[in-house]
Formats: sequence, structure tokens, C-alpha cells
Amino acid sequence: MKKIKIIGTGSYLPEKVLTNDDLAKIVDTSDEWITQRTGIKERHIASSDQATSDLGVIAARRCFETFDIDPKSIDCIIFGTVTPDKLFPSTSIYVQKALNMPNIPVFDISAACSGFIYGLAVANGLINSTSMKRILVLGGETLSKVTNWSDRSTCVLFGDGVGCAVVEESHDESGLLSIYIGADGNMENLLHQPAGGSRNPATFETVEKKLHTIHMEGNEVYKHAVNTMQMAAEKAISMANISSEDIKWFIPHQANIRIIDTTAKYLKVPKEKVFVNIDKTANTSAGSIPIALDQMNRNGLLKKGDIILIDAFGAGFTWGASVIRW
Ligand code: COA
Repeated sequence: MKKIKIIGTGSYLPEKVLTNDDLAKIVDTSDEWITQRTGIKERHIASSDQATSDLGVIAARRCFETFDIDPKSIDCIIFGTVTPDKLFPSTSIYVQKALNMPNIPVFDISAACSGFIYGLAVANGLINSTSMKRILVLGGETLSKVTNWSDRSTCVLFGDGVGCAVVEESHDESGLLSIYIGADGNMENLLHQPAGGSRNPATFETVEKKLHTIHMEGNEVYKHAVNTMQMAAEKAISMANISSEDIKWFIPHQANIRIIDTTAKYLKVPKEKVFVNIDKTANTSAGSIPIALDQMNRNGLLKKGDIILIDAFGAGFTWGASVIRW
């Protein structure tokens, strides 16, 4: 079995920043409520002419340039997103076109906030079972495009952004020591976009009822997020044959600071080893983990040999976790 490793990272957050105070002018909320309940202070919002692939293209270019990766050496593009440019073709197609990487296979993964970890798992499988050597895995969203800006219980939580990583076979100690993904469709209605697909195609009525936006039962999702992120992390830790004391960095999905703190406490990972950027990004869904990885990588926080745990949970429900030796 080949072990894969990350050889480069990139990310892009749109220029426009929306603060909690800005939101308090739109809906009945406050900076204090949002900060206390979620840890979020601000989020980035894509412009009206920016689609998810546009963010992905910038993230990928940054990765290629910084880590000296030739786009022509990439054998496949995988994009984890639930806010595709169009329902079809895939968002990866637009990344391929913009970066001039013709003929390689490209596709999207719909696993919500777990999309990037699902992408890593699929890339791992492809490198192990095909002649593909290098794969670009992206994750991220323009959730602002499917946000109901009059629903204070959801509109304060999300932000836009895309991150990415290039993976290939590792020939040294570094690489993915474990990867675990899973899903349970029984609670799909707790977090979803009800219309726009084949179940509820777009009509005047679906638009009027705002059924093309995020619908969420926050309290229920919260409980499942805490339990499932703990379970997924434990599984990845045991599959990697390490103990939680070995972890140098815990990089959890950035959905809510209380979910992050509770998961870290349960895993007995001290606060100083937990990476948090939710105050600046909010929940970027599939973007959350790769954006965090890239910010840490660029800031020199990740040292060769460090043991890292990434852990995500999202709509579906889906989940995924991986232990990586950097
Ligand atoms: N500003 C002010 N008040 C708000 C508010 C806001 N933005 N959003 C909700 N409220 C109100 C509610 O209306 C409710 O008022 P009521 O008691 O008068 O009915 C009160 O705050 C408490 O609401 P509740 O939903 O119980 O708050 P909470 O502490 O559970 O926090 C979430 C709500 C959404 C922050 C929290 O449930 C959460 O983070 N859930 C997980 C969401 C998530 O991570 N989703 C993505 C998973 S990948």
C-alpha cells in the first residue's frame, strides 16, 4: 500500500469582509451573541461575479507557484463542494479550464464540510489503484450564495473560501498515517438546501419560500457534530496507531468554537495545540480544513515530522478524520 503525502497547499478568501456589526444591521443579532455562541467575528464574502471555481483557481495557482508544482504534472482534480458553479458540469471542470490542464479526469465530491477529507481519501485510493501520481484536491464554497440573509440562526455562521492541497506518493516518513470517512443519511433533513435539485426543481414557489438556501436545525446539528467529531478523531487515531499525546496540531473543522473546544477536551488535546481561525473565516464548509492547513503551512507552524489530526463533520451527515505526519 502506497502512503500519500501533501506536497503543497494553497487557499483563497475573497477580499470582502463582513463583520458581526455589519450583520447586526441586516438581522436582529449582535456581535456579543455571535462571538459568545460561535467564536465568529467576521467572514469573507465572494463578490457577485465570483463563483466557487474562481476561488479554487486562485487557491490552486498559489499552491503551484509557492511550492513550484507544474500544473501539467497533475493527473486528476477533485473538488469537494456543495456550492458548485452550476449543477452540472462539475466545478472541477472550470478549474481545469482556467488552469489549462486538459484531458485529465476531474470531478466533484458532495460531502459538505467533510468534502476535503473525502477528497483526500479518494485521492489515496486513486494513487494506490491507478497510474495517477499527483492529484489536486480542493475544498471550499461560496455559501453566501445560498444563505438566507433574513434568517439570523444561519446567516451569521458561514463564510466563503477555498483551500487545496497537492498529494503524491510519499517516499519518506511523512504522509497520511490513517484516513477514515463515513456517513449516515438518516438525519439529512437537519442541514440541507431543500430546492434546486431533482426532488424540488426550481419554481416561482421554491424561490419565494427561499428553499434554495441553507436550512438547519442548529441545536440538533450541534449535538451530532460534537459526538461524531469525537468518534471520527478516535477512529483515525487508533487506525494510525498513535495516542492523542503524540498530536502536535489538532486541526478541527471550524463550525463553532464550542464544538472545537468540547472535541479537543474530550480528546485531551490542550488548547495551545488546537488551530483556530473561525473568528476570521466563520464556517467555510469544505474549505475549512484546507484553508487552515495552508495558513499554518505558510506561517511555518507545520514542521517536518509533526503529527497532525484533521477532523470534519458536515451535512448528510458526513464525517472524516485523518492523522498526517508532516
Ligand atoms: N443572534 C441573536 N439571537 C439568535 C441568533 C442570532 N444570530 N440566532 C439564534 N438566536 C436566538 C434564537 O432565536 C433563540 O432565541 P429564543 O430562545 O428566544 O427562541 C436563542 O438565540 C437561542 O437559540 P439556540 O438555537 O438555542 O442557540 P444555540 O446556543 O444552540 O446556538 C447555533 C445556535 C446555531 C450557534 C448552534 O446551535 C450551532 O452552532 N449549531 C451547529 C451549527 C453548525 O455547526 N452547523 C454546521 C455543521 S458543519
